[in-house]
Amino acid sequence: SVETPVVVRTRAGLAEALAESDAESSVVMTMGALHDGHRALIRRARALVGDAGQVLATIFVNPLQFAEGEDFDRYPRTFDKDLAICTAEGVDVVFAPEQAEIYPDGPARVTVDPGPLGRELEGAARPTHFAGVLTVVAKLLNLTVPTYAVFGEKDYQQLALIRRMVHDLDMPYEIVGEPTVREPSGLALSSRNRYLSADERQIAAALSTALAEGVAAGPRGRDAVLGAAGAILDQHPELDVDYLELRTPDLSAEPVHGEARLLVAARIGSARLLDNMAVQLI
Ligand code: PAJ
Repeated sequence: SVETPVVVRTRAGLAEALAESDAESSVVMTMGALHDGHRALIRRARALVGDAGQVLATIFVNPLQFAEGEDFDRYPRTFDKDLAICTAEGVDVVFAPEQAEIYPDGPARVTVDPGPLGRELEGAARPTHFAGVLTVVAKLLNLTVPTYAVFGEKDYQQLALIRRMVHDLDMPYEIVGEPTVREPSGLALSSRNRYLSADERQIAAALSTALAEGVAAGPRGRDAVLGAAGAILDQHPELDVDYLELRTPDLSAEPVHGEARLLVAARIGSARLLDNMAVQLI
């Protein structure tokens, strides 16, 4: 479809757009600066509901998930380009609210506590991040009332926590995970990759190389996986590795065997990079 999506800025406008359709709907939540990873989510959202269904995209840079000193102010805002991408992908409704529309009484006073997993991995470096993410995701789910909500495996811990929230709080939405879209170098696409210099971008590709080596060592067991991935990371002193961990697919701390997830976070210059892959352990 080449029809421009309906763009709504308010909850009243959103409610009106939702009332236009009684078909199934799917939502893709984003902070804008859309790239091919977001596109893959939108395509999945369309595939889930079919041509008759309603596909919604939300564009909102959520202040609640940024800590003091993080990149909220310089986070890329590229609305016109984002709208062109939503048009090309056949999105029906774009919800792009101002901050005051989402937080009319100031920062939410009642927030979603992500529980223990919210303090581990990414949460160790960003202790308030996942409460901010889950709070806005809960609000956007309740505002868009979708049948399906599609999230990327790129932010694997975010996806795991959203699944857990919806399960633990009995929220009536189906959460769908979509595989990570990568550059030819293996680098996972991210709106924040634009913070990287050309040199840093090359080094950043080592993250996915390390994970792929780890995945290849799966048949030799847990220590081999961590050893193989760690060896690649060690070759790049410019990468300041925060964690390299193997976990169960739901990221609980239980012993890992069979299907597992290998996750890495590293800083390079002023950027923080995340990546993860599925591993089959012996
Ligand atoms: P944002 O970083 O814009 O990402 C929006 C969605 O796109 C997330 O589900 C994310 O996992 C997915 N995504 C990002 N890069 C991807 C890639 N290379 N391949 C596949 N999917 C990718 O994540 C957020 O925004 C926010 O935390 C949000 C959920 C919108 C709440 O504010």
